[in-house]
Amino acid sequence: MSEKATLTYDGKTTELPVIIGSEKEHAVDIAKLRDQTGLITYDDGFRNTGSCTSDITFIDGEEGILRYRGYPIEELAEKSTFVEVAWLLIYGNLPTRTELRSFSDMFTEYQVLHEDMKYHFEGFPPNAHPMAILSSMINACGCFTRELTGPYDPSKFKRHTARLISQVRTIAAFAYRKSLGLPIVYPKPEYKYTANFLHMMFSMPYGDVDLEPEAVAALDQIFLLHADHEQNCSTSTVRMVASSRANIFASAAAGVCALWGPLHGGANQAVLDMLGQIRNSGDDGSKFLESVKSKEGGKRLMGFGHAVYKNYDPRAKIIKASCDKLLARLKQNDPLLDIALKLEETALKDPYFLERKLYPNVDFYSGIIMRALGIPTEMFTVMFAIGRMPGWIANFKEVMDDPKSRIYRPRQIYTGPTMRTYVPLDQR
Ligand code: SDX
Repeated sequence: MSEKATLTYDGKTTELPVIIGSEKEHAVDIAKLRDQTGLITYDDGFRNTGSCTSDITFIDGEEGILRYRGYPIEELAEKSTFVEVAWLLIYGNLPTRTELRSFSDMFTEYQVLHEDMKYHFEGFPPNAHPMAILSSMINACGCFTRELTGPYDPSKFKRHTARLISQVRTIAAFAYRKSLGLPIVYPKPEYKYTANFLHMMFSMPYGDVDLEPEAVAALDQIFLLHADHEQNCSTSTVRMVASSRANIFASAAAGVCALWGPLHGGANQAVLDMLGQIRNSGDDGSKFLESVKSKEGGKRLMGFGHAVYKNYDPRAKIIKASCDKLLARLKQNDPLLDIALKLEETALKDPYFLERKLYPNVDFYSGIIMRALGIPTEMFTVMFAIGRMPGWIANFKEVMDDPKSRIYRPRQIYTGPTMRTYVPLDQR
């Protein structure tokens, strides 16, 4: 039984279809609204607007629920791995042993960049932000294998995207090494995905870094928890670019740029900067929270609040538990963690935050783990991008595989000057 919504405007009543998702979300389908009424809708920031239907990720912001292809994030975080979840997001089901093996083998096959890409790295100044390097080098990757920048070919999708997932970590590690003037360390086939990344980040030509299994597991879980999050800012950007039938490398590079902002993926870096400033000022966090509540200079409690979650971000809970475990294992106690715990405890009792339903999000604790792993703050958003890559690719695939897919083209309500005629320069 299909449901309808009725709109009465200007003396005319129009019926609009209501579509219902598999989790009983309801949406008014306004595809014919303008034809039937002359009206368009207006929704600043698209907070009440569905841009697509999608089978990939489900979020219930009020209940703090996050599921990848129906699997609860809590189960995947406990039982799965980043590579397995990448397959799940892109292809829709948990991989068989054979599928997982072939996926991993393709990551090994494509882990090394085209050797000439080294010259691109030489072109960046030492203090170039790694997100700038990442977005440009992802596009550069596409130039070295011309078929990657050609029209979408479903028969090549599996290899192209395995290349992208594999090489995004190689680019990230090379960018880090370049920023420190260290020799680049090539990936090794004997290391699995996340271990290979840490190897490329921290080994030296004369000896491999000693990879603590708990450290590798903690970063793998960070990647897994960041792997997708429905139509967030960067994923919507990827879909927007994909809708013009641009290639996956161009779409992913655009996603990296959108993710960079401090209100989005850049928040993990902003959280650590915030905690460091609080520590250096000698404040225990209470003065800082007062300045946030008085909106002094537009200050925000970074890592708190969310456009969709009006409850605790389930990822934050998982990361916070992993944080405690890893720091105990590495016998580290981080004063910034103590400040973060104090901020959370105080904020979650404060009406300012409770009334606005501001809770810790994925970025509040993730930086503490990455700092414990020796990853510099400037690389935190790059870690987010490595984690989010499978989600971007899954959304790209949905756009490309949809026979009804059209180029995204939102409308607007014009509020500028009405028609006026040109005034010659000597009369202005
Ligand atoms: C991510 O969309 C996704 O799914 C994103 C993400 C993903 O996985 O892709 O989950 C990843 O981006 C997580 C969010 C990371 N960003 C931060 O931690 C930055 C700090 N948070 C905010 O700036 C903010 O909470 C947003 C941007 C995340 C959401 O902002 P909204 O929903 O647009 O809320 P708003 O800006 O309209 O604010 C509503 C009120 C305002 O106060 P009033 O005008 O009502 O008095 O809440 C206040 C805001 O000032 N507010 C905050 C706050 N966030 C909102 N006040 C203090 N500290 C904050 N963090």
